[in-house]
Amino acid sequence: MASPATVQKQYDGFAGFYDLLWSGYVRRTLPLLMDAARITPGERVLDLGSGTGALEERLAETAPGAEVVGVDVAPAMVKRARRKLQGVPAVSFERADAHALPFAAERFDAVVTASTFHYFDRPAAALAEAARVVRPGGRLIVLDWCRDFWTCRVMDAVLQRLDPAHDACYTLAEMRALLGASPLAFQRARRHRAGGLWGLMTVEAFRPA
Ligand SMILES: C[S@@+](CC[C@H](N)C(=O)[O-])C[C@H]1O[C@@H](n2cnc3c(N)ncnc32)[C@H](O)[C@@H]1O
Repeated sequence: MASPATVQKQYDGFAGFYDLLWSGYVRRTLPLLMDAARITPGERVLDLGSGTGALEERLAETAPGAEVVGVDVAPAMVKRARRKLQGVPAVSFERADAHALPFAAERFDAVVTASTFHYFDRPAAALAEAARVVRPGGRLIVLDWCRDFWTCRVMDAVLQRLDPAHDACYTLAEMRALLGASPLAFQRARRHRAGGLWGLMTVEAFRPA
């Protein structure tokens, strides 16, 4: 099973070339999260696993004035994100683990996360933390690989054997079950093809008022 410490070590090593390797994938996938999240200017947003700040760059354009905090367990990723977004005062980054967030309760209008949920070794704890820091009526939007697609099932099985940072990716039904056991209420979910055979899902939930 992965741990945040293992993920941190891996992504501290990846930080120097993450954008070079993954910018195409990020360009194709982040619009799915943005469409589902519909962040508006003035909202307070927390991004779990913000990486090098790709979502924050986009939100600075589409929702100027939204207060966006990105957290990432890997300090080297946080450093790169800070450097890229240093001229945008509404955006900030912190080194933090999604399983134990350093924020007061009800601090955010929305919590989002892109291509990161499969790293969480305690998904129930991560959902409980998201529920704690989002205000009543606020929302959680998850974009991640979807194990309903055979390509993701194969990749999940391979990575569970070979990649010490990988934990697990889920089917839509499994995500619904995780949410059902959390303080959040499931709202909507969709599967998406992300070029070729790869499959993703967006899952939306909210904190009941
Ligand atoms: C595949 S990258 C995705 C980055 C970004 N969301 C994007 O779409 O480009 C996954 C990121 O999640 C971070 N991460 C993984 N587990 C985490 C955890 N428990 N808490 C915070 N960040 C985490 C990793 O360090 C990495 O930067």
